[in-house]
Amino acid sequence: MDPSAIGFVLNGKAVTVSGVDPHTSLLTWLRAHARLTGTKEGCAEGDCGACTVVLGEADGAGGVRLAPINACICLLPSVDGKAVFTVEGLQRADGSLHPVQSALADCHGSQCGFCTPGFVMSLFALYKRTPDATRQQAIEALSGNLCRCTGYRPIVEASQAMQQALPLAPAQAAPIEDWLSRKAVAAPRDRHPGERLLAAELAGLARNEDFTYTAEGVTFHAPLSVESMSALFARHPEAWILAGGTDVGLWINKQLLTTSTIIYTGRVAGLADIAVSGAGIAIGAAATLEDAFKALDDHYPEFGHVWRRFASLPIRSAGTLGGNIANGSPIGDAMPLLIALGAQVELAHGAARRSLALEDLYLDYRKQARRPGEWVHRVIVPLRRSGVAVAAYKNSKRNEQDISAVCLGIALERDGQRVRTARIAYGGMAGVPKRARAAEEALGGRDWDEGAVRDAMRALQQDFTPLSDMRASAGYRMKVAQNLLMRAFLELGDPALEARVY
Ligand SMILES: Cc1cc2nc3c(=O)[nH]c(=O)nc-3n(C[C@H](O)[C@H](O)[C@H](O)COP(=O)(O)OP(=O)(O)OC[C@H]3O[C@@H](n4cnc5c(N)ncnc54)[C@H](O)[C@@H]3O)c2cc1C
Ligand code: FES
Ligand code: FES
Repeated sequence: MDPSAIGFVLNGKAVTVSGVDPHTSLLTWLRAHARLTGTKEGCAEGDCGACTVVLGEADGAGGVRLAPINACICLLPSVDGKAVFTVEGLQRADGSLHPVQSALADCHGSQCGFCTPGFVMSLFALYKRTPDATRQQAIEALSGNLCRCTGYRPIVEASQAMQQALPLAPAQAAPIEDWLSRKAVAAPRDRHPGERLLAAELAGLARNEDFTYTAEGVTFHAPLSVESMSALFARHPEAWILAGGTDVGLWINKQLLTTSTIIYTGRVAGLADIAVSGAGIAIGAAATLEDAFKALDDHYPEFGHVWRRFASLPIRSAGTLGGNIANGSPIGDAMPLLIALGAQVELAHGAARRSLALEDLYLDYRKQARRPGEWVHRVIVPLRRSGVAVAAYKNSKRNEQDISAVCLGIALERDGQRVRTARIAYGGMAGVPKRARAAEEALGGRDWDEGAVRDAMRALQQDFTPLSDMRASAGYRMKVAQNLLMRAFLELGDPALEARVY
């Protein structure tokens, strides 16, 4: 294979691509170049799920890990070395339907059909990853798929019905079933020969040297080591760093921005690692949101309901925690929670490393303490100390796949009822994710009672002068921010109290 070409496995067959602009999305390439038009384009911004495909990556243990992603915001060169499955890959040799498709048809889960290939692929990923998925798991798996005419009940019913399908006999199976059996995923030790074959195929695509792909005057670098990544970005501080592309993809599709140099974090060895030690939970910048949230859930399960409402499964499967932090949006959801926990961010510039408190990374709207050529290497979240109570809330118009109007993270250390330290951080209240210092001071050294909490609620007016925009008015934001503090007081005071209404 030409080492300067993009190489991947598409529906079981190896393909190589060259001469295509690195800004090109996987979706555009599938539809316009490979002529696989089953995958649809609805919004081109990761919101509707019409473009859902399944990505397979070597899991490092001889198997393949599958995840649904949005092809519209996935840059084509980032699938180098991976396996891509589209709805066409589900077709069986005799033309009959895959069990996921049969279940959707039998349950009347499709009307105009535009959204259906995306639903099929999300359900297919669920079918492989979670063979006994509950209705709730199915609803979460479909959080990134919009249907405007059928209604969701029959689709969720299909998610249950598809599990009853008998395993396909090898002769009947679609090529994809030859590659990956459900049994293989359910019992990784006993991998299906097909999965082992695909893993071997992917191993054959592994690179020993940094991947550099150039077309149309644009260069895409995929460095393999932290050192090489750091050296590259120090040399090209004007380059775009690309991680999951769930923000960068929108710059291209919606703002029509382009660049001449892209540096991709997804192939850097060890950069997606998550390690727990006495120093804390160290989450590499390329760890996906899904993996990072799972690791954080083990220590701070109280935040789980916010993580599950962060975008959708395809976005969390592609997007990274490092990307959320580096993007530093004032309405990003991870930062208020991590700042409340006292997270540190580790930055790299060439061979140099430095750490700073996450809140100190954000200076002003879209201004960060990062120097040119400096990038986010890891985030370190402190381990839970006994006696620390935490709470987090996301306020948005929709439950799934919506941007926060206000997001709160709070961590309280108390001696009995007395507040020793309070860390309170908000998103959506200022030009950056920000601590509420006046509110923290109003609580410090006082009993955690209604009087102190009401003083802290008033103090928020010194901390923030929120903006009005299409998501929420300034007055609404302030009221919500204050009421969320009261909600934390009520819920932390009485764990049995359920102030949440959904
Ligand atoms: C449909 C949709 C829903 C969304 N919902 C939410 C939501 O609910 N909450 C929320 O907070 N966000 C949401 N987002 C935003 C986005 O998913 C997150 O910000 C995500 O974490 C970005 O990660 P990424 O890996 O995709 O970053 P990318 O898009 O690859 O990069 C984002 C930015 O970070 C930079 N970057 C990436 N990695 C590094 C690094 N290691 N060092 C330095 N710079 C780096 C890039 O250059 C770019 O500026 C949503 C996005 C979409 C499309
Ligand atoms: S086209 Fe809507 S999510 Fe990709
Ligand atoms: S079937 Fe028409 S949008 Fe879903």
